[in-house]
Amino acid sequence: MEKRAELYRGKAKSVFTTDDPDRLILLFRNDTSAFDGKKIEQLDRKGMVNNRFNAFIMQTLQAAGVPTQFDTLLSDTECLVKKLDMIPVECVVRNYAAGSLVKRLGIEEGTALAPPTFELFLKDDAKGDPFINASHVVTFGWATADQLARMQALTLQVNDILRALFDQAGLMLVDFKLEFGLFKGEIVLGDEFSPDGCRLWDKDTKKKMDKDRFRQGLGGVIEAYEEVAQRLGVPLS
Ligand code: TMP
Ligand code: ASP
Repeated sequence: MEKRAELYRGKAKSVFTTDDPDRLILLFRNDTSAFDGKKIEQLDRKGMVNNRFNAFIMQTLQAAGVPTQFDTLLSDTECLVKKLDMIPVECVVRNYAAGSLVKRLGIEEGTALAPPTFELFLKDDAKGDPFINASHVVTFGWATADQLARMQALTLQVNDILRALFDQAGLMLVDFKLEFGLFKGEIVLGDEFSPDGCRLWDKDTKKKMDKDRFRQGLGGVIEAYEEVAQRLGVPLS
């Protein structure tokens, strides 16, 4: 597989074309961003940890029947993926109240949410990733009603799979964000799953083990990511 031109540079990953028109290479950088890119820092080892973590989670989801973009782990910081037409909508599931839900509705942090909530955000940093609803998605043509229904069903399926996986590792999956795209007409899970895009709390101590350590300046960001990886049995280098 030959790596060619940089197609897109995001806040934490870069995307390259390859000699196969259906495949891209994702490069996980050490850049760590929060607040829609307003806070950015380089954290040593983050690219490697997130790349390997993402590969492990995507392979787990694929094996459980969730169609994912993931193809092959190529190196410490790169993986080969299917080339998707990305849908600019972020799907968020919450099992416990945290983050913007606490701010928006005044629900106490840590409140168990049953059933889990499902929320939509527009992926648009310039607008601050605004909260949107299903009718916006369809009216503005970001996805059809059928595609959105599929995205919601897959997101809830991912929640069932990963809640159990993290629970076995002594972690609460508080919330997470997924992005989807189209591959040959099918809705497929894209982007990444790593501690950058979810909240994970230690079950006993409630210690934050995710990007909230960076957002809130708590320190020990990569140490926490590595501990999560180690508890799950993700091989790191
Ligand atoms: P929130 O509490 O800020 O709405 O975020 C909910 C979860 O989704 C949290 O785990 C962070 C993740 N998320 C992202 O990773 N990127 C985003 O742009 C958004 C809106 C959420
Ligand atoms: N991923 C989003 C961003 O980088 C939200 C966040 O992590 O705060 O802005």
